[in-house]
Amino acid sequence: MPVKVRAERLSKVFGDSPGAALEMLDGGASKDEILRETGNVVAVSEVRFDIEEGEIFMVMGLSGSGKSTLVRCLNRLIEPTCGDVLIDGENILAVDEGRVRELRRTKMSMVFQHFALFPHKSVRENVEFGLKIRGAAPAERGAAALDTLRLVGLEDWAEHYPASLSGGMQQRVGLARALATDPGILLMDEAFSALDPLIRRDMQDELLDLQRKVRKTIVFITHDFHEALKLGDRIAMMRDGKIVQVGPPEEIVSRPADDYVVDFTRDIDRGRVFSCASIMRKIPPLQLGKDTLDTATRRMRQESRDALHVVDGEGRPRGIVHAGAIARSVQAGEPDLADALLDGFPTTPETARIADLYTMCGDGLPIAVLDSRGAYAGVLMPLDILTKLTPDVPDPGTRRAMP
Ligand SMILES: Nc1ncnc2c1ncn2[C@@H]1O[C@H](COP(=O)(O)OP(=O)(O)O)[C@@H](O)[C@H]1O
Ligand SMILES: [Mg+2]
Repeated sequence: MPVKVRAERLSKVFGDSPGAALEMLDGGASKDEILRETGNVVAVSEVRFDIEEGEIFMVMGLSGSGKSTLVRCLNRLIEPTCGDVLIDGENILAVDEGRVRELRRTKMSMVFQHFALFPHKSVRENVEFGLKIRGAAPAERGAAALDTLRLVGLEDWAEHYPASLSGGMQQRVGLARALATDPGILLMDEAFSALDPLIRRDMQDELLDLQRKVRKTIVFITHDFHEALKLGDRIAMMRDGKIVQVGPPEEIVSRPADDYVVDFTRDIDRGRVFSCASIMRKIPPLQLGKDTLDTATRRMRQESRDALHVVDGEGRPRGIVHAGAIARSVQAGEPDLADALLDGFPTTPETARIADLYTMCGDGLPIAVLDSRGAYAGVLMPLDILTKLTPDVPDPGTRRAMP
């Protein structure tokens, strides 16, 4: 996937002597030290990342960690102190004000926490606004606004005013307004943070639904780790203006970079974080009509397993063979792999979360993980699932006193 947004050593200092602050930063001084000595606030500190097209990139951190400043540097609502921001390869810090405005009208839209709708304009007029300043004709922008309102389920509310809508609906208008100009990039700053928990969960689900349809590149700011885990393809963990870790949710949870990240991961539902694909073992299956009982036995030894999945010519799982069943087949003089097949076995799509599998773990059978075409992609053992649910604890053996 092409890189849509790139930040290179991006920093923002608030205060009247940013030069001195940056020098101290170069010398390794902390945000606190710089504030004490210069009175300047280092809000964003030498941040770099690449965001791929179509990705939901979460920026997560405590309040004051620099998230809003960072996202506003991406469209120059805040002027970065130094560094580079590339949008589709274009360095937007090197272009003039006119071009920045054009980029905001065409390539990047922002959704704010407090909706920022015009109270005296109808829902439709709010959504049309971006198209209007772009110079679109009334009929054209009216049609586009209605299309976008349909996308967020508000087509019947087009002629109402924002005050008559609930918070969740107002934020859907905010989202529709941002989408109406069909930008490649959506910048969302705590867009759901002002909503009640249940509405917020609905909005998160809707955003994921919407993203499947419109495939935008989304930079989403949040201070809610659950939200970051749920929405993010990747999460950038921010602390004191720095990004301390970037990675997919599973990686952040299973390999937190420092104590700051560990603190967030402590009480999350790990079963909801890990997808089957992320923890399955890619053990090659046996193939019907190709592999024999002999090769089955050999492969089991190689993989140190006493059971393997068997697939047909299309790669679809047809059953499991156990070492015991092979021995019995050989004894009975049945040379074919098909004779040793156990055909009742659990399967799961690779996108399922492991919390969806608990009931399948009961009988101890290996679970076949299927890709989107229904072909075998790997295997999950009930025990793998259980170990993934408990956070890594230090090996008790290392604490025991030596005899
Ligand atoms: N306009 C400003 N002037 C001075 N300091 C600011 C300004 N905006 C933000 N800050 C400071 O920059 C830091 C990062 O703020 P912000 O980006 O709003 O964090 P977040 O969005 O993560 O809560 C904070 O220490 C904040 O006090
Ligand atoms: Mg903020």
